[in-house]
Amino acid sequence: MSNNQPLRVLSGIQPSGKLTLGNYIGALKNFVEMQGEYDCFFMIPDLHAVTVPQEPADLREQTEMVAALYVAAGIDPKRASIFVQSHVHQHAELGWLMTTLSYMGELERMTQFKDKSEGKEAVGAGLFVYPPLMAADILLYQAHLVPVGEDQKQHLELTRDLAGRFNFRFGETFKIPEPYTPKVGARVMSLDDASKKMSKSNPNAGSYIALLDEPDVIRKKISRAKTDLGREVVYDPQNKPEISNLMGIYAQCSGLSIEEVQARYEGQGYGAFKKELAERVVETLEPIQRKYAEIRASGEIHDILRSGADKAKAVAEETLRQAKEAMGFLLPRR
Ligand code: TYM
Repeated sequence: MSNNQPLRVLSGIQPSGKLTLGNYIGALKNFVEMQGEYDCFFMIPDLHAVTVPQEPADLREQTEMVAALYVAAGIDPKRASIFVQSHVHQHAELGWLMTTLSYMGELERMTQFKDKSEGKEAVGAGLFVYPPLMAADILLYQAHLVPVGEDQKQHLELTRDLAGRFNFRFGETFKIPEPYTPKVGARVMSLDDASKKMSKSNPNAGSYIALLDEPDVIRKKISRAKTDLGREVVYDPQNKPEISNLMGIYAQCSGLSIEEVQARYEGQGYGAFKKELAERVVETLEPIQRKYAEIRASGEIHDILRSGADKAKAVAEETLRQAKEAMGFLLPRR
């Protein structure tokens, strides 16, 4: 790429269940904000989703759902390429090459692998080699920036290591990417326990807000959210983790800074704050939900995904060719 071209961005959200407010604040909101400034590729990593068992019908539905949510949240398919990972075969192929460059020890140290495999009798090998596939996703596009939440930073670090290792052994081929996390909300915590991240895989649905939760469900979940002892709305993640988490959500859904949120609720109790927080979240999600219903009804998502995959493939194919050539693969002669 020449110097005057915009920097590249790649990221994705797994189609492995409902998307949460954590996915929105930690990642999707930044996707939307970055599309004006960068050359963006946003994929739906379905090859990653099957590292844990998925019902085939659910996987198909959830893949379409994530794609439609991308657009509903404000990603403009004319400006950014939206595509399904498995539609671009180069991901699987470079994923394999990255696996061959990875060490068992470094993959064993990945906290996501440790969390997902802990206490399980049978652990799928796909879960173990998940991070080199993620590295391939990013490196195929020579991405400079990768908008992610805090929990993906370790995978980004590994991606940087693998890119550096490849470049050192086979010659300068890959850009070394940087993570891009929001200042507030890189780790949105569970509503019932601020020591755990908000996650769609939590069996207690009251612990997370799903992007497609109805307004009244959102109000109920927030009114039941855990709060700390005392009653002051003060940002103090060490001593008041529950209310600080809710304040972070408030800031992200209102556009206010944490200081402004704190000033606004000075002298008021948790009750008044939570009521208004629920409204900020509803105001954020309602337009997305409305647009989502329209997009699903129109069926336009399939055209968006087809043209997104075409654009992605053109870039991915060229990077994969360079990588294979550098590694010494005999390329077919035309
Ligand atoms: P996934 O699908 O678990 O999550 C998608 C994005 O949402 C962020 N996130 C959060 N941010 C803040 N607070 C939370 N509670 C929260 N929960 C989730 C995640 O950090 C992530 O940015 N491995 C990735 C998917 C992936 C990917 C990639 C990402 C595959 N290939 C290439 C970037 C680039 C994952 O499992 O994210």
